[in-house]
Amino acid sequence: MTVFIGVPALLGAIFAIGVCGHRPALPSKWVASCDSDFGSSKTAMVLSDASISWSFKHYLDCSNRAIWARWINPAENSTFYVGVGTPPMPRFAALRADALIIGPGLPALSAAAKLLLPAEVLSDPVWNITGIGAIFHRSPQDQSTCGHLGAVMAKASTVKNGRCDFYEPYGATNSWRILDADGNQLPTSGAMYYAAVFLQSDTSGKVGIALGTWAENFMTASNLTSPNCKRSFPDWSEQKEDQGSCLPVLSCPLANPIPRITCTLSTCPRAVVAKACEDTIASSMMCTMGRVCDCSAVIKTNACGTTITSAMGNTDVNAVCAKTCNVTCSATATETTTSQSMNMVCGGDKCPVAAKAWSAGMMPMHSKMAIKYTCDTELDFIRGMIPHHQGAVDMCDILTMDLACTASGDLDGMVALCSHLRIEQTKEIAGMTSWLGSRAVEAKCDGAESGCGNLACPSSKAFMAANAVMHEVMVVRIGCMHEVDFVRQMLPHHAGAIEMCNILERTTQLSDPYLVELCFNITRAQRAELAWMSEWLVSRSQPLSATCQECAHGIPPSQPNAHCEDILPSTSFCHKPGWNCACEFAILEVPCGKTLQTAEYGYFNPTSMCRRSCGLCPADREPLFHQPCNDTEDSPHDHALHDATTGNDADHSLRNATTGAVSHAPRKTLGTFPLQFWLGVATLAMVLKR
Ligand SMILES: *[C@@H]1O[C@H](CO)[C@@H](O)[C@H](O)[C@H]1NC(C)=O
Ligand SMILES: *[C@@H]1O[C@H](CO)[C@@H](O)[C@H](O)[C@H]1NC(C)=O
Ligand SMILES: *[C@@H]1O[C@H](CO)[C@@H](O)[C@H](O)[C@H]1NC(C)=O
Ligand SMILES: *[C@@H]1O[C@H](CO)[C@@H](O)[C@H](O)[C@H]1NC(C)=O
Ligand SMILES: *[C@@H]1O[C@H](CO)[C@@H](O)[C@H](O)[C@H]1NC(C)=O
Ligand SMILES: *[C@@H]1O[C@H](CO)[C@@H](O)[C@H](O)[C@H]1NC(C)=O
Ligand SMILES: *[C@@H]1O[C@H](CO)[C@@H](O)[C@H](O)[C@H]1NC(C)=O
Repeated sequence: MTVFIGVPALLGAIFAIGVCGHRPALPSKWVASCDSDFGSSKTAMVLSDASISWSFKHYLDCSNRAIWARWINPAENSTFYVGVGTPPMPRFAALRADALIIGPGLPALSAAAKLLLPAEVLSDPVWNITGIGAIFHRSPQDQSTCGHLGAVMAKASTVKNGRCDFYEPYGATNSWRILDADGNQLPTSGAMYYAAVFLQSDTSGKVGIALGTWAENFMTASNLTSPNCKRSFPDWSEQKEDQGSCLPVLSCPLANPIPRITCTLSTCPRAVVAKACEDTIASSMMCTMGRVCDCSAVIKTNACGTTITSAMGNTDVNAVCAKTCNVTCSATATETTTSQSMNMVCGGDKCPVAAKAWSAGMMPMHSKMAIKYTCDTELDFIRGMIPHHQGAVDMCDILTMDLACTASGDLDGMVALCSHLRIEQTKEIAGMTSWLGSRAVEAKCDGAESGCGNLACPSSKAFMAANAVMHEVMVVRIGCMHEVDFVRQMLPHHAGAIEMCNILERTTQLSDPYLVELCFNITRAQRAELAWMSEWLVSRSQPLSATCQECAHGIPPSQPNAHCEDILPSTSFCHKPGWNCACEFAILEVPCGKTLQTAEYGYFNPTSMCRRSCGLCPADREPLFHQPCNDTEDSPHDHALHDATTGNDADHSLRNATTGAVSHAPRKTLGTFPLQFWLGVATLAMVLKR
């Protein structure tokens, strides 16, 4: 079998998540705090929940000598962690950090330790609190081994180029771990405790601070302290370019204050990568919707350098035919269309760039999933699933690289979600690509909106119907909170994969063990993420759905209920050896109702992570796709469409209902996609035919 080729290479990436993910302690619009943010016990960052894992980044510019955090100790003798890292850049090589944990019931600070504290820290009012004491931790000068790390970080770090290096899989960044202070016992329950972190060298510098416990929690909302810092931190880890000129390391007494030069990368990290000089027309709207996919044909009627105007917007011929038109690619390799041209989303007036990015980002998936069907159901399934999975990866890239300009453990948990998602989906894409192997066939339909080829069999019809519903429900109203908009589009996207597996299972006698396992994995992982994402929205008091549809008779669109599932596959517990991402195994070790404290990931609580396996979810699942409007014309076909959207794996009675749904799905889609969009399609097709 060739099936597993390509998988071993990716296993490394999976096992790289050897520790829990730290939750960003800054609100997602900030990459890092800086300057005098959190500069004393009075202005300390407030950790709203000290029982989970937090992290944030900070540039010390000498305005203050230390960075402070404070929290209420949740339990007597709870343990608390503080770790400090720096980006692996030569100018940070000499940085060493110290950390103080301060609070009642801790030993008095020794005279020797006092000598090592910056005067500013020693004169902080915190020391006047009655009964206060402190634990003092110091980075060793020798950083050539990971000997100074606690057990958890030691397992996840290695010596690289002579330095103890930690690879953070969520943001795909490296850092030098200069301090690792684990297992601090905080005696007094309910009392306020403080941490202060400072650089031994009394210089400016970048630090990443992790603190709290090893319990991962990206999901629940919490109150975060906003910094005042107005600097921008593009490319915090300086993977793209050295930022020594705008964020220098200077000796504090000499260079105080350090000139505040703004760092700029010309654009987001992803956009600075020059694109290959190619004709992009094949993946453009013109090809998908206008059925014109060939640049040599285009330039016969519309010369290079001209603009094709249609109701879909303006398409710059040079942009889609860069190679044919001999233009410099870096400047024009993206298709330029006006934002009102592509209505794959609605709303977004306050963030036209984002609305356009979401809309354009979805186009390749929509068009590539419109395959030329063969009625070899297994083959058609794989050919549709590859672009489907790629669509999720692309949407993550839009969120983390294009809109947020960051891939660093941030965005209110979305970087972590995307990291899980990229690992899963890239691995599955590799598996599916090798399964295809020589069975790959020409997939293009040359512009047919939803698919072509052999549509006689039930599976082709069912796949097309499911795609139509998915695409329809993915047309969401953009509210310009990028994380929220992303999640609302991702919910129906994930539901689409589960539905495709349902179709495969009910229209074939599935025997290929690879496909059986793949669908098992897809269903499990995507259900977990559906539940995770819906809980994420609920926890932020955000509606689960924001539809572009207007319902008949002015009835307001309805909201779905949150999905209730085992979410373990979308947490770091997934990677616990022996559990194989499955609650079935986890609850053998930790029965429902009990908890287990693990070294790497904190508390495992099956009743929150294995809710379905513990019998805490309603037996009937929420429909996969939420239809926000009740149908007024009560035709049996419309009922059938609703049936096709149920999430119930066991419901095999759908076979006939699905067939019924198919004939009307395109009509329904036409009815609910913004009219402007379809007018645009028709108009562009006409313009190009002339
Ligand atoms: C906390 O630690 C102290 C000192 O080690 C011990 O006397 C006390 O019993 C502990 N309390 C709890 C709840 O474990
Ligand atoms: C702490 O208390 C001492 C005397 O008790 C006082 O002199 C000092 O000013 C206080 N420090 C701060 C920072 O409040
Ligand atoms: C956030 O703070 C507000 C006001 O202090 C409070 O009402 C709310 O419960 C807090 N939310 C969380 C999740 O801690
Ligand atoms: C692009 O360059 C090639 C070779 O220099 C030339 O043959 C071709 O005509 C050029 N195409 C256009 C559209 O200018
Ligand atoms: C299914 O998931 C398991 C556990 O993550 C993995 O080992 C296996 O390779 C996956 N199978 C397929 C076909 O993707
Ligand atoms: C749609 O119809 C169902 C059942 O008839 C009803 O429970 C529901 O509230 C209706 N939803 C809307 C948005 O009118
Ligand atoms: C599907 O429809 C056919 C013809 O109406 C019927 O004979 C068959 O029993 C139906 N199958 C299911 C699963 O309902």
